[in-house]
Amino acid sequence: MELDLAASSTNITDDINTWEEVNLLYNAALKQITTKIEILNEEFQEVHRYNPIEHVKARVKAPESIVKKLKRNGYESTIGNMVRYVNDIAGIRIICSFTSDIYRIAEMISNQKDIQVITVKDYIMNPKNSGYRSYHMIVSLPVYLSDRIVNVKVEIQIRTVAMDFWASLEHKIQYKFEGKAPGHINEELTECAEMVANLDARMLQLNEEILAIEGEH
Ligand code: GTP
Ligand code: MG
Repeated sequence: MELDLAASSTNITDDINTWEEVNLLYNAALKQITTKIEILNEEFQEVHRYNPIEHVKARVKAPESIVKKLKRNGYESTIGNMVRYVNDIAGIRIICSFTSDIYRIAEMISNQKDIQVITVKDYIMNPKNSGYRSYHMIVSLPVYLSDRIVNVKVEIQIRTVAMDFWASLEHKIQYKFEGKAPGHINEELTECAEMVANLDARMLQLNEEILAIEGEH
């Protein structure tokens, strides 16, 4: 009997029963996205002679963190609730050099036919109160199993090296103070975030000037 895979494409919430299945599916989705990003980066290197991507980090959220998040949002810890309500079980972070690369990468990802963009949050155009800047996408992509196709959600965070530097330090500080850092520290962090944005803008401008000079030669 031939399987009609297209007809059997399912929503992940319908037929995932165990943590092992969740882990398998989200790991598979991360592998696919990672490969797609590597290919885009290599192609970009071929065509434009530079790498827009500095590095990529991928992780599946620890089960304890998933349970904590469900609890925080008032949901029971079931597999169904995990896949329905936790959008960042699979997470990938793409770190690039310049702000312009962020939008280029986001567009290349969105243009892939098998990737469906579910939501976009542009914290570069609209930074968070903390000062946090990054470009977030929740996407869904099909994972092919032996007897069915399952659409799996992945959170993609795209940011510059400078934004990443700020975000990782800020995260560490908030963790240390359990999210309640003293006011002056928060103010200092927000100010640093603005310096980072300014640095990114100046580095971008510098790079564009250099590219223009190269173009003349
Ligand atoms: P979470 O429940 O934290 O996942 O938030 P959300 O579902 O409302 O999504 P949001 O886009 O606000 O944040 C998603 C992720 O972005 C977080 O899990 C962090 O990794 C990162 N993030 C968001 N805000 C901040 C911030 O102020 N500082 C740092 N360091 N990271 C942040
Ligand atoms: Mg998160």
